[in-house]
Amino acid sequence: MLQFYLFGATGDLSLKKIFPALFALYEQRLMGESFEIICISRREFLQEDFHKYLEEHIIGIEKKIKWTSFLKHLHYQKMTFENVLGYEDMAKTYDIDKGTVRLFYLAAAPEYFKTIVANLSQSEILEMNNKDHRLLIEKPFGKNLESAIQITRHLEKYLAEFQIFRVDHYLGKEMIQNIMLFRFSNGLFEAGWNKDYIDHVQITVAESIGVFERTGYYDKTGAVRDMIQSHLLQILALLTMTPKNERSQSDICDGKVEVLKHLQFDDVYKDIVLGQYSKSDNSVSYRDEQGVHPQSKTETYAALKIKVDLPRWKDVDFYLRTGKRLQEKHSDIVIVYKKPSGKIGQDAEPNVLKIQIYPQEGMTLKFNMKEPETTKELTTREMTFCQTCIEGYKRPKAYETLIYEAIQGNHDLYARWDEVKYEWTFVEKILSQCVELRKELEFYSAGGKGPIEADNLLLKDGRQWLSDK
Ligand SMILES: NC(=O)c1ccc[n+]([C@@H]2O[C@H](COP(=O)([O-])OP(=O)(O)OC[C@H]3O[C@@H](n4cnc5c(N)ncnc54)[C@H](OP(=O)(O)O)[C@@H]3O)[C@@H](O)[C@H]2O)c1
Repeated sequence: MLQFYLFGATGDLSLKKIFPALFALYEQRLMGESFEIICISRREFLQEDFHKYLEEHIIGIEKKIKWTSFLKHLHYQKMTFENVLGYEDMAKTYDIDKGTVRLFYLAAAPEYFKTIVANLSQSEILEMNNKDHRLLIEKPFGKNLESAIQITRHLEKYLAEFQIFRVDHYLGKEMIQNIMLFRFSNGLFEAGWNKDYIDHVQITVAESIGVFERTGYYDKTGAVRDMIQSHLLQILALLTMTPKNERSQSDICDGKVEVLKHLQFDDVYKDIVLGQYSKSDNSVSYRDEQGVHPQSKTETYAALKIKVDLPRWKDVDFYLRTGKRLQEKHSDIVIVYKKPSGKIGQDAEPNVLKIQIYPQEGMTLKFNMKEPETTKELTTREMTFCQTCIEGYKRPKAYETLIYEAIQGNHDLYARWDEVKYEWTFVEKILSQCVELRKELEFYSAGGKGPIEADNLLLKDGRQWLSDK
């Protein structure tokens, strides 16, 4: 038996991501034989009205025959997160069988995490050290290191670390999961996956959307805390970790932590660009978005150069960039190899391996060959594998993968507390230097390519962004 408690069931995240994922799992018969989804929010709804609300607000899924049977598993529970009586009512209403797997998904703002968990524990719905009782919490894990520590200390009063699943949905993406398998199953690449062969790495996560109704959250957060602290540093850690022996989940987390502890950022003036989008023909400026302070200094764009201070990566530069209201939504990782030594190698273009995450999933490798009908001239060719182009390929949705793994009790795609702690430690150090040294914001036109200064970040090193757009 599975009980899935969804806190914040009427909210944006639940409607956009969680219900569609649960329904998809149900359609694939991956929710198990017997399950119920307890949908918790404070607004007044009769069961049928809640179903109607979902019908109207969830978009992008076909609500056909199976949808109606799926709805039979959903129970609406009106209550406030703060009111312990609501939890006691739930404990009485939903049978608490010993072997029941209970997942508590907090699709709620982080300030509620403490209250919800304390109330779940007090009403004995959630048991400490019970491996079948699992808490899923959404990023942001706090708004800075201090608040992240506070949240964690509080959660630790009620749960063991193995009961906590921190959702960073990027880890559920197909090509992000692929990084590890690709590295460790191809001796050809893993052998040269180090400072002797790799010149530098570029990681791009570009978004075309703005902040919509999340301005209240975003204006206090910005791109570094919202995206670099979680998604981009996780990608970097997966790319550069050296897990020990077993490559078990704990080995992988230890490997990531080792990287995150050794991140190095040198120069606020030279190595980081913070940007904010300004008005364009098709868009208002960030400062004119509803709910944003008219003189806001929040960055909607960040590009930075960092190093991983470990022998394997000595002197290799890692460039990370992310932003909102850019020309196109796309994400990829570009690994640029060193030119081989020797005379022929000097004339060659560097090998480049591109891992495409979105919109296409795939890989491209650039290599050099002889130009036909010449004896010595070189030309650069590309080998491309496009996963999304395979006929019948259905891109798995990150939330489906993540929820399924949590139902199975599998932590592989979730971040451990020490990973989050070192991510926060690193970004806070950078951000405090930016404040101290009064780092200026660079403005870029909404819908454009981002600030020109982000191009200069690479140009001054004799490089350029090799990402798709
Ligand atoms: N939206 C996204 O795409 C997204 C992506 C990543 C992370 N997140 C994070 O996920 C969390 C939820 O985001 P969201 O966008 O879904 O927020 P949201 O649209 O504001 O939804 C909040 C939900 O919490 C409920 N709620 C709020 N206060 C409550 C209380 N005191 N008692 C009972 N219910 C209460 C609301 O219920 P009522 O409707 O009854 O008021 C609603 O269901 C946030 O921490 C956000 O940062 C969101």
